[in-house]
Amino acid sequence: MNADFRINGKVIETERLILRSFKQADLDDFYEYASVEGVGEMAGWKHHDSIDESQKILNSFINNDKVFAICLKGNNKVIGTVGIEKYGLEDALTEFKNYYGRELGYVLSKDYWGKGLMPEAVNAVIDYLFNELDYDFLLCGYYNFNERSKRVQIKCGFKPYRSLTMKTQMGTKEQGTLMLLINPNKNIKFEFSHQETLIFE
Ligand SMILES: CC(C)(COP(=O)(O)OP(=O)(O)OC[C@H]1O[C@@H](n2cnc3c(N)ncnc32)[C@H](O)[C@@H]1OP(=O)(O)O)[C@@H](O)C(=O)NCCC(=O)NCCS
Repeated sequence: MNADFRINGKVIETERLILRSFKQADLDDFYEYASVEGVGEMAGWKHHDSIDESQKILNSFINNDKVFAICLKGNNKVIGTVGIEKYGLEDALTEFKNYYGRELGYVLSKDYWGKGLMPEAVNAVIDYLFNELDYDFLLCGYYNFNERSKRVQIKCGFKPYRSLTMKTQMGTKEQGTLMLLINPNKNIKFEFSHQETLIFE
């Protein structure tokens, strides 16, 4: 099942990054990377055409308090996000019925790709969710054309769980892969009951 989640002032620090809640002052940084074509599109949403659009999304980040802003240490610039999202199909994915988890989603400014920053951010979030909040599992998905995101998930320990058609916010459908990470502190053996499951143990 989906665990309850709010950032609630939590700040996560890594070697090069600070992860924290969004604030209104982040608008310009957010618009700067969200308006670049080919960033949001890799995650299923169209790049922002106006700062008003970024403002609306920023307001929802602040109100819902489940998306971490990724800030570069030193200049405190916001260069991306890691969202602790609800996973979909909660009723259908019966193997998770008695366990707590969420789905991770992330985006990084194009200027910073290829430096290992997202694996650094995602690993720190995983550490927090598993070791402090005691979650049982995490899901994370990518569109099959997105090799970079696939690499991030593999490097963070996720295993292929399901192959499925995923909708984008642009009204299209893409073939994608849902990946699963089980909390290694726990001896969980999920009973995968669906034919489409990619994990066989
Ligand atoms: C996906 C994303 C978060 C990766 O973040 P990052 O910090 O650049 O990740 P990394 O530096 O670890 O690089 C990821 C991989 O991309 C690979 N890569 C670099 N250029 C590449 C290219 N042209 N084609 C394919 N892979 C490439 C790198 O080799 C690296 O893999 P490796 O460690 O095995 O060498 C970032 O590219 C991004 O924000 N993309 C747009 C939004 C998005 O895709 N979000 C995820 C939606 S599921």
